[in-house]
Amino acid sequence: MKEISQKKINDKNLNLDSDLGVVSQDELEVLKNSFIEGVPFQYLLNKADFYYSEFFVDPSVLIPRPETENLVDLIVKRHKGKIERVLDVGTGSGAILLSLIKHGVGQSGLGVDISTRALEVALLNTKRLHLEDQVRFINSDKLNNVEGTFDLIVSNPPYIKAQSHRELVHPKVNQFEPHEALYLPDDFYTFWFEDFFSEIRSHLRGFFYMEGHELELDAQAEILLKLGFKNVEVLRDLSGCKRYLEASFHP
Ligand SMILES: C[S@@+](CC[C@H](N)C(=O)[O-])C[C@H]1O[C@@H](n2cnc3c(N)ncnc32)[C@H](O)[C@@H]1O
Repeated sequence: MKEISQKKINDKNLNLDSDLGVVSQDELEVLKNSFIEGVPFQYLLNKADFYYSEFFVDPSVLIPRPETENLVDLIVKRHKGKIERVLDVGTGSGAILLSLIKHGVGQSGLGVDISTRALEVALLNTKRLHLEDQVRFINSDKLNNVEGTFDLIVSNPPYIKAQSHRELVHPKVNQFEPHEALYLPDDFYTFWFEDFFSEIRSHLRGFFYMEGHELELDAQAEILLKLGFKNVEVLRDLSGCKRYLEASFHP
């Protein structure tokens, strides 16, 4: 199991102190041109606000979204103070996991991602939020390298079908955000989630929450039911779109 270390972050020389107040004229010119090209301002400033905290982001991680904040808020309201171990699959910047732990959902947390670069960013954010004693990260394809069971598993996996859903994606998102965070191949999509949910089941002794695509959540809820999950619900986001799955499993 490959745990991500702080040294790797330092070796990469992440731009930790980007502050518009101290950039040189040349840097300002680069920023201006990038802004004109349409690079999201969160990548230009290396920061994104998410659930009462500021997160370092760069183009190796998805910019955390308001609908994901909504999911975190829902989990905090339901589970604060009642959960021991939390797992976040596809942690990216660590926004979900770190927000949950910071707000009292889980005494300890494990974040996994297939991207080692994303895990370096997540570890950096952990340090900034002073949560190193409670949170660790491992590199894993889905839950392949995960051991043990968890009281709550959360995931915002890639959930856009690379072919049939792509035209619904904003061109700026497609151009600037990491494709492995966004897309799964159409012909592999159902199998990917069947496999994912059965891995989740092997490591769950409590609650499962997932953000997903409004056109896919009903079919995914059926898969969860077939696998023996209980209390399976499709939940809507604040704009009224189907956006999340909620379920539980107790071995
Ligand atoms: C939609 S992003 C979510 C990032 C973050 N959790 C958030 O909500 O902002 C999906 C994340 O899953 C990761 N990922 C993609 N395929 C994966 C896999 N097979 N196993 C683990 N992580 C994966 C991506 O690298 C990316 O960080």
